[in-house]
Amino acid sequence: MNIILERQSRKPIYLQIRDRISHLIKSGALKAGDRLPSIRALAESLQVNKLTIIEAYSVLEADGIIAARQGSGYFVSSVTSSCSNLKSTFSPVQNVMILESLGNGSYYDTYTPLIHAQTQPGIINFGYGYPPPPKDINQIARRALKQEDTDILFRYDLPQGQVNLCKQIAQMLVQQGLEVYPENLIITNGSQQGLSLAMNYYVQPGDWVIVESPTYYGAISILENLGARIIGIPMTAEGINLNLLEQYLRSHSPKLIYTITTFHNPTGLTTTQVHRQQLLALAEKYECPILEDNAYEGLHFEPVPAPIKALDKHDLVTYLGTFSKTLLPGLRVGYMVVTGKHYPAIIERKFLHDFHTSSISQAIVSEYLASGHYRRHLNRLRTDNLQSRNAMLQALERYFPEEARWTVPQGGLFLWVQLPDDIPIQTLRNEALAENVFIACSSAFFPDKQGYPAMRLTFRLSIEEIETGVEIVGRLLKKHIRRGVKPVVNYQPLAHSI
Ligand SMILES: Cc1ncc(COP(=O)(O)O)c(C=O)c1O
Repeated sequence: MNIILERQSRKPIYLQIRDRISHLIKSGALKAGDRLPSIRALAESLQVNKLTIIEAYSVLEADGIIAARQGSGYFVSSVTSSCSNLKSTFSPVQNVMILESLGNGSYYDTYTPLIHAQTQPGIINFGYGYPPPPKDINQIARRALKQEDTDILFRYDLPQGQVNLCKQIAQMLVQQGLEVYPENLIITNGSQQGLSLAMNYYVQPGDWVIVESPTYYGAISILENLGARIIGIPMTAEGINLNLLEQYLRSHSPKLIYTITTFHNPTGLTTTQVHRQQLLALAEKYECPILEDNAYEGLHFEPVPAPIKALDKHDLVTYLGTFSKTLLPGLRVGYMVVTGKHYPAIIERKFLHDFHTSSISQAIVSEYLASGHYRRHLNRLRTDNLQSRNAMLQALERYFPEEARWTVPQGGLFLWVQLPDDIPIQTLRNEALAENVFIACSSAFFPDKQGYPAMRLTFRLSIEEIETGVEIVGRLLKKHIRRGVKPVVNYQPLAHSI
């Protein structure tokens, strides 16, 4: 295998190796089933450390391009080529939603059916996405409890979280391009608490807040609860619509912009690098803080742009992360990166809220990070997720009507299917539920609780469930389309208010 390395290049060697192998596969020089050189052989021939090859193979594995076979080495997988012609067809109507008074929705009412659905036997649950528990969880949890001075785990601790875990998370974030020190971190009860703490800090009743439309309903509910007024700026394929954003930054002087930059919930879209820079530039120009929620970043199939927080020179961005989507949501461990003058005010709020996050949960996460299990677990998760995403894209192609459009996320847990304007989405949801398929309707994700007809589907299911579930929903959809609905309305650059 011919790999020429540019040792002077700023691109890390493992990424150069990854790119070259990826190119050889895409060009057909390496075919599905071909065996890659052993780690040792490739390290010797390229005169690099074995760890560099392990790193390159791990990334290729996480991308789903190659797969390890126990005891036999690495092989080119067959999954990648099968989906290369499936493209994102996301082009929603560009309506701005302006909501002066909120409070007609309850997150509790949306959340509880999802939780019940996950325990219902036989249901195919497209509505909810979380990782399967790692196989070694019992072993790691026992080790975490054994290693620590048990006393430490059962007494009151610091509100910002355990020093060791803060150091480990800071290291992890540095690899994502953030300049973070352990002193900038606050360990929270999931990122939901981080959202709540930050929103409570930045927003007063009656303040305008900008959110992406659609967006995560857990965030909308906190804002409703706070008595905020919401401006929902539509998403484009590159991220939030920046022209409309600037227009409303100028006219409404909002106090916060809430954005999910990577594998956006619910659309699965990733804000591009250029868009991130422009978004920050606008926030700086209009002196509006940004709350960057990066709950899904760990689940990427390909490298993603560094968070906006990495570009922030003026402490304008508060950053949120979590282990809920990559490890175990039930541990309730998330984190915030808070810099400058905002830190003391937010740590005070965290303290008043619940003193600190569970020490046992923190110790388990810390043990995962320390032992390298987390990294291996993530690699497996990414490979599995890519396979199920591909299976879902193929099933959508097969079973959904041509009027439907969907996103092709490069990671995360969900994709977003936009439907013709006249599809009665709640009826569709009920019909699907009658056939044991649970879907998350678009209405929950829009600030006005309506938006356009669409659904969020998690691909974090078995291939069989995806095939059966998509077939059922596709059949129901086609029935509605035959009854005569108008097609999806295409991109409209002009805004209108609701
Ligand atoms: C975008 C986003 N942010 C935050 C959360 C809250 O997650 P957790 O509190 O489990 O970390 C979720 C959960 O679904 C989410 O999708």
